[in-house]
Amino acid sequence: MPRNIMWLLNLLKMKKGKKVVVLTGAGISAESGIATFRDSGGLWEGHDVMEVASPEGWEKNPNLVLDFYNQRRKQAITAQPNAGHLALKELEKYFDVTVITQNVDNLHEKAGSSKVIHLHGELFKARSSVDENLIYDIDGWEIKPGETCEKGSQLRPHIVWFGEMVPMMERAIEETQQADIFLIVGTSLLVYPAAGLINYVDPSIAKYIIDIKAPEMGINDPYLRFIEAKAGEGLPKLIRELVDEHHV
Ligand code: OAD
Repeated sequence: MPRNIMWLLNLLKMKKGKKVVVLTGAGISAESGIATFRDSGGLWEGHDVMEVASPEGWEKNPNLVLDFYNQRRKQAITAQPNAGHLALKELEKYFDVTVITQNVDNLHEKAGSSKVIHLHGELFKARSSVDENLIYDIDGWEIKPGETCEKGSQLRPHIVWFGEMVPMMERAIEETQQADIFLIVGTSLLVYPAAGLINYVDPSIAKYIIDIKAPEMGINDPYLRFIEAKAGEGLPKLIRELVDEHHV
């Protein structure tokens, strides 16, 4: 690349600040009243996950699946972002921030985060069950049986179910590879491919995990710091540290 272009790119990067990539999971929304997955004893709000979150479940009983996500939506519609989500918005004043979330709620958006990648889909969107490119915003909380896309097929939740492809993964990998600092907040790191994102992080950059429990995979990386805390307490504190440390 010509030197003057390199110089310009570096200048732009300096102006925008370092790139922070944040992988979030259900734990960041726990303090907003949304239940996590693995703390609920293998059942998801009383259901076997395969019944309500798989293409087979949808085929067997679409009304049950619609109702399940309608209830999740009804619960999430009034949820408010907590101090953890708000801290990530605040971070944008100092860094170029990308949030990669496994959560289907919209609390990062409600907090004002501007770059959010939803790996597992979005609760407040519906999509055609025959054409994955037909995606619609949901007005309110309900997808009703009989509500169809423009091709006449039943609308389904815009959620990545078990056994389905994760279309946003490629973009998430690209962002992860460019990170100068990588944060992991409130995820058990048990569901792939999301949990594998950490393998794309530059090994020499600083990494942080904030969770109330240490990850099962263990921590054997000198550049990785585990902070045992709730997201709403640990994140605002870490973010103040990062801002001080990087003098931006
Ligand atoms: P999990 O329920 O597996 O993990 C939640 C994590 O959050 C655990 O490590 C908890 O210790 C931690 N935690 C709980 N409360 C917390 C708090 N207040 N502050 C910080 N951490 C807290 O949720 P995910 O890892 O997000 O997929 O689950 C990944 C995927 O599995 C989900 O996206 C979902 C599920 O099946 C789909 O629906 C496709």
